[in-house]
Amino acid sequence: MPPDLGSERIDRIASYVEEQFRGSSKKLTWDPVFTANYRWEHTLRVAQYGKTIAEEEGLNVEHAIVACLLHDIAYFFEFPDADWKNHGRMGAEIARPVLLEAGFTEAETSEICYAIAVHVDGEPDTPHPHTQLADLVSDSDNVDRFSAYRCVLWCQTEQDDFHAMAEMLRERIERLEQYATNNPLDTTTGQYMFAEKVDLQLTFFRSIVEDSDKTVLPEL
Ligand SMILES: [Fe+2]
Ligand SMILES: [Fe+2]
Repeated sequence: MPPDLGSERIDRIASYVEEQFRGSSKKLTWDPVFTANYRWEHTLRVAQYGKTIAEEEGLNVEHAIVACLLHDIAYFFEFPDADWKNHGRMGAEIARPVLLEAGFTEAETSEICYAIAVHVDGEPDTPHPHTQLADLVSDSDNVDRFSAYRCVLWCQTEQDDFHAMAEMLRERIERLEQYATNNPLDTTTGQYMFAEKVDLQLTFFRSIVEDSDKTVLPEL
C-alpha cells in the first residue's frame, strides 16, 4: 500500500460524512440540544479517540478512523425517532457502498460495517465474528458520551430551573458512581479514558448539587 493511500481514503470518507452533515442540517429537523453540529463534532471527537485507541492497542489506525467517522452516519439521513436503536445497522447499510467506492476491499468493508452496525446494541445486521475494531468504535463513542461538553448539555436540559437541574444530576451521579465502580468499556485504553471522563463529570455534577444544597438561608 503506498504510504499516502490510507490518508487519501480517510479524506474521502471524511468529505463524504461532512457533506451528509451539511446537507442534513438544512433538510432534517434536529433536536434542540443534539443538533446536526453536535453530531458532526461528536463524530470528529470519536474519530480522535478511535485513533488513540488504535495506536495504543496496535490496531489498524485507518480502519479505526474511518469506522468512527461513519459510526453515526445514519443520523444524517431521515429515520423515525423511535428507530434510533437501529441507527448502527442503518449506518452500516449506508456506509457499505461508500467504503467500496473509496477503495476498501470487501473484507475491509465488512469489518468496518460490522463495527458500525453493532456500536449501539451489539446486534449486527449480517453475521460476522466479533472484532477488536467493534470494541474500539463503541468505546470511542462512549468516551465522548461522557465528555466535559456533555456536562454542559446535561445542564442545558434544565437550564431554566436550577433545583430541577440539581435533582436530575443527583440521579446522574448515581449512574456515574456505578460506572466508576464497574467500567463497562472493552479496550484497556478506552477504559482508562472513560474512567477519566466519569471522574470529571462526577466532580462537576457533585459541585452543582452542593451549590444547590447551599442555595437556602443559613440556619443559626
Ligand atoms: Fe451512535
Ligand atoms: Fe455516536
